[in-house]
Amino acid sequence: MSELNSIALKIISNGKGILAADESNNTMTKRLDAVNVISTPENRLNFREILFTSESMKKCIGGVILYDETINQLSKTNLTIPEIILQSGAVPGIKVDTGVKNLANSPDEKITEGLDGLRERLEKYYKLGARFTKWRGVYSITKKYPSQISIHSNAHALARYSAIVQECGMVPIVEPEVLMDGDHSADECLNKTSEVISRCFDELIIQKVDLKGIILKPNMILAGNKFKNKISNDEVASKTLKCLKNSVPAEIPGIAFLSGGQTEIEATENLNLISKNNDTNFIMTYSYGRALQQSALKFWSKNIKDVKRTQNIFNHRANMCTLAAQGKWSYEIENKK
Ligand code: 13P
Repeated sequence: MSELNSIALKIISNGKGILAADESNNTMTKRLDAVNVISTPENRLNFREILFTSESMKKCIGGVILYDETINQLSKTNLTIPEIILQSGAVPGIKVDTGVKNLANSPDEKITEGLDGLRERLEKYYKLGARFTKWRGVYSITKKYPSQISIHSNAHALARYSAIVQECGMVPIVEPEVLMDGDHSADECLNKTSEVISRCFDELIIQKVDLKGIILKPNMILAGNKFKNKISNDEVASKTLKCLKNSVPAEIPGIAFLSGGQTEIEATENLNLISKNNDTNFIMTYSYGRALQQSALKFWSKNIKDVKRTQNIFNHRANMCTLAAQGKWSYEIENKK
């Protein structure tokens, strides 16, 4: 087993998932503004450190994705944040893209940037303890989009990023996120997501990325948030499995879904059904941002000193997601006090 494959498996095995705490300062400011907390480096760290020192980190969280600011911060105990994460047995990771810009010749779409100087930044992050990374490509669905320019350019960038990350001894998370915004059907999401993922793997293979040493982070197959009909959770699970079976090569060790604006319960229930009906060889788990943090952040914003109860809320969410990754979650367990 290669070193990269064993890092990937350590992060996602046995129901463990990934805590995506890599919101950029802009995004984190929006999240904190929404709950009336001033976004300062201290407040951003205070909330995150509460999560990173929670009990559920040991049992549920295999990896934490950090943002540049956080990986350089010191904890209250004077340990670095990667040291705190390592203490819980999880692997520290880092978001390395530098965000999205308008895509030339298709300016309603986005291209993710960050390849310039990437190798140098990776060397620095490796020294700080990071052993995996994240890069997110983003695609919208409309009648015209995603365009071939977007599908091709983002796949190319994701593959270039992955190749450089592996050369630096880290596992790349490959995240092509097809957004849920819009009035498209779940079948449109299925078709577009399958094309997006297939093209990513075409590029990863051309650029000789070791598929055993990556983690795929896709969206689930959902109807657009303005679509006229609601689809069932069973349909979400079956369409998501269909998509992945058709577009993902068998070699990859696992798939860690993003939550993408689903509620905490939706993201948990859908993952549970995917795992329960998983007829692939891929490990299926979570790499959630909002669906792990939302309730904890809401409570903390009103009770900033109450570390214990904030952690209890996060622990519950992480436990539920870990059960879901094993297909063992139910409403009964969710609501048991
Ligand atoms: P969400 O789970 O909130 O979609 O965040 C995951 C992530 O890392 C998006 O890039």
